[in-house]
Amino acid sequence: MAFKKNILCIGAGYVGGPTMAMIAYKCPQHKITVVDINPERIAQWNSDNLPIFEPGLDEIVRAVRGKNLFFSTEVEKSINAADIIFVSVNTPTKTFGVGAGMAADLQYWEKTARQIVKCSDSPKIIVEKSTLPVKTALAMERILISNKSDFHFDVLSNPEFLAEGTAINDLENPDRVLIGSRLTESGLKARNELVDIYANWVPEDQIITSDIWSSELSKLVANAFLAQRISSINAISALCEQTDADITNVARAVGVDSRIGNKFLNASVGFGGSCFKKDILNLVYICRHYGLNEVADYWESVIKINHYQKERFVTNMLGAMFNSLAGKKIALLGFAFKADTGDTRESPAIYIAERLVEERAELIISDPKAIDNAKTDLKHLNNKIKYIEDPYAATDECHAIAIMTEWDLYRTLDYQKIYNSMIKPCFIFDGRNVIEHKRLFEIGFNVYPIGKPAMTHFEHS
Ligand SMILES: NC(=O)c1ccc[n+]([C@@H]2O[C@H](COP(=O)([O-])OP(=O)(O)OC[C@H]3O[C@@H](n4cnc5c(N)ncnc54)[C@H](O)[C@@H]3O)[C@@H](O)[C@H]2O)c1
Repeated sequence: MAFKKNILCIGAGYVGGPTMAMIAYKCPQHKITVVDINPERIAQWNSDNLPIFEPGLDEIVRAVRGKNLFFSTEVEKSINAADIIFVSVNTPTKTFGVGAGMAADLQYWEKTARQIVKCSDSPKIIVEKSTLPVKTALAMERILISNKSDFHFDVLSNPEFLAEGTAINDLENPDRVLIGSRLTESGLKARNELVDIYANWVPEDQIITSDIWSSELSKLVANAFLAQRISSINAISALCEQTDADITNVARAVGVDSRIGNKFLNASVGFGGSCFKKDILNLVYICRHYGLNEVADYWESVIKINHYQKERFVTNMLGAMFNSLAGKKIALLGFAFKADTGDTRESPAIYIAERLVEERAELIISDPKAIDNAKTDLKHLNNKIKYIEDPYAATDECHAIAIMTEWDLYRTLDYQKIYNSMIKPCFIFDGRNVIEHKRLFEIGFNVYPIGKPAMTHFEHS
């Protein structure tokens, strides 16, 4: 069958793989190729063992792979054949030079731009899928225009709003698809081509179009707002713990106000994931660049509270366990940054594990999907940590449990059995407020939720 369009995605990661699988699934008339410089990743995409865990992803990939979805390492050859090129490479925080620790590292992005120039002998639409600093499209255009050839390139911004763990549902039923373009005749024509692709399954009133700079900035701002809500509720959780108020009751009372809304108001050990911190740092960096220091300070405080929340969790554990963790066995239940993903990037569990090892605790890490990533994240400590997937074996003869990820599994464990196998007095620190605190207290645990009074069997002095 002859395909209508050749669509290419450069970068086969958490975004490139699922988004292109969805486009292929919804648009059988187009051929979608996903390329990556990492041959292992591509081999995994072509195997039964996909490189990322995401509910529903396997089924979609299986339905379209080899029909109109292809994974390949042939980056240059694929560029030339493409009409539309999505760029979905990683844009981590810069670790060197000017802006280190703040600015986005755009080297991977720029390399793809140069490669597109080098390998193209026809006009193309280039789509920014990666999250980028506002005005990156301008740099992209400059690189593309400096090409000696006569071909025209249109650059569009189409940031991805999927959340890991619910990526397939988010892609199939997005709140919105955002497409930014230059407002020139050719920019608008390119924009309409991309609208037409999404219109295969997304209602047109949910496809928002805008100028290109607003689109680029909107992605950073959306992530900053989401993270800000988490830091806001987490900041209040600290006050709840001091005043015997209950964060769940506060969140419910606040969230029913339709102006505020009830989503993203769960107090926790802190946010993680590859995006929130890096995107806020990027936003802060841009604000400082323009001399907007008050604005930068405001957003930076979202990250500071997140760090405070993680550190507070460790100091609470230390205080509860008689100010000494040395030699005590502690099981971390969960290591992924959230449920239903194996992704551990910026997971709060990384910091907490490091701090507990610093206190000389003996750590056991358990997670249904993230143990391999945990081993990589903590390879500098691996002789001090055990990894045991089975939660019953992981908690056996432990002094304490700390829940790091809101996996459903942890709501339904047999905690009586776990209690029986642990060293007494036993402690459970619920970093996600997912267990039934009263029931566990009645079993005999000393229970420390987030933002609620602790339930202990100790006499108050
Ligand atoms: N992960 C998320 O939930 C999420 C959500 C929305 C947006 N984003 C943004 O999407 C972008 C990608 O994120 P991700 O999580 O998919 O990252 P990722 O690290 O999982 O994937 C990026 C891939 O790009 C590949 N790559 C890098 N340079 C390349 C090159 N020159 N040619 C070919 N391949 C190359 C890497 O090998 C890697 O496999 C980032 O900008 C991120 O901020 C991520």
